[in-house]
Amino acid sequence: MPDVVVFEDPTGRGEPIALERFEIPKDLPDYEQRVGKIPEPDPHYVDLGMLYRFAQVEAVRRAAPSGFVPLHLAVRGHMGTGKDHDIEQFAARLGLPYYRIPLTGEVRDVTLIGSTRLHGDGKGGTESRWEDGDITRAIRGPALVNLSELNAAGAETLFALHGLLDRYAALDLPTGETIRLRDDVRMFGTMNPTDLRDYAGTQTLNKAFADRWVIWEKDFPSGEQIEAMLRRRYPDLSDAFVEAIAGLAVEVNASFTSPDAGTRVETPLSLRSILDRLPTGLRIHASTDDPLRAAWEDFVLPHVDPYDRDHYETVWNAVVRRGPAGPPFGG
Ligand SMILES: Nc1ncnc2c1ncn2[C@@H]1O[C@H](COP(=O)(O)OP(=O)(O)OP(=O)(O)O)[C@@H](O)[C@H]1O
Ligand SMILES: [Mg+2]
Repeated sequence: MPDVVVFEDPTGRGEPIALERFEIPKDLPDYEQRVGKIPEPDPHYVDLGMLYRFAQVEAVRRAAPSGFVPLHLAVRGHMGTGKDHDIEQFAARLGLPYYRIPLTGEVRDVTLIGSTRLHGDGKGGTESRWEDGDITRAIRGPALVNLSELNAAGAETLFALHGLLDRYAALDLPTGETIRLRDDVRMFGTMNPTDLRDYAGTQTLNKAFADRWVIWEKDFPSGEQIEAMLRRRYPDLSDAFVEAIAGLAVEVNASFTSPDAGTRVETPLSLRSILDRLPTGLRIHASTDDPLRAAWEDFVLPHVDPYDRDHYETVWNAVVRRGPAGPPFGG
């Protein structure tokens, strides 16, 4: 019996989607290593809808006749909105080895595709041998490849990927070998938006490259979604704290997207601040008279540029002014 995984629509509108998990062929030379790269499901993960949307595309692909040109999915959103986490959790559900390959401005096509290197031949001489780059190695077997920070890569690097991502669906290596996109390989990507704010090193995606992707926006999570994530991860965090943190996050991020440069904050409140840093601060300062304020000062404000602190303080005063009475956990 094949292993089946069911994706539910968190909005309750769509039918559940059942998909068979991928199988890793035992005869692959790197079988053990590949199986080791299947991510663990994150027990704290809350699907805000992205997994269901990925599953919709996957279901269409599986139902398509052969010769169908596959779609590649890129998620665009601000820092810490959970883009990479969604893609990793999709790999976990489908049982695909996950290869996250960052495309920074430094990365060159030889790193991604591969290069010929000199090796000792064991007899005092040298011989040249081809060595796969990161993408080449990943797509030699079942894989979910996440090209993260797509819009940080230089144009030459991206040109090397054009053929792989379009109808041609293959990589031609300088050795003469052609590696076709297997049926059990999925290509994903993430990027930050460049329209609203600067992300150092990013640029507008080259149009021809962008046209090879389906690009989906990932918005900041809503207050309800943040509350759901906090409750899942910290079941003993009291309601007053959950609501205050969600309220702060929603207002900071609304201010981040405001067109008024005079009052808007320049740094969004990321899920890392909300789910990792603030709760750590609350544990450390649990017995002080305003644990949320102390956590805010120690774990949020240091991430904010000095000229931006006033804007953060405006939001703090508008939303909480004074944090809830402690203790934050198990009260
Ligand atoms: N749906 C979710 N449910 C629970 N936790 C989440 C979810 N999405 C993200 N997180 C948490 O938020 C953190 C940030 O997520 P992630 O690294 O995916 O963000 P990102 O959008 O890729 O950010 P960046 O643009 O900075 O790379 C992760 O450490 C993860 O634990
Ligand atoms: Mg990321």
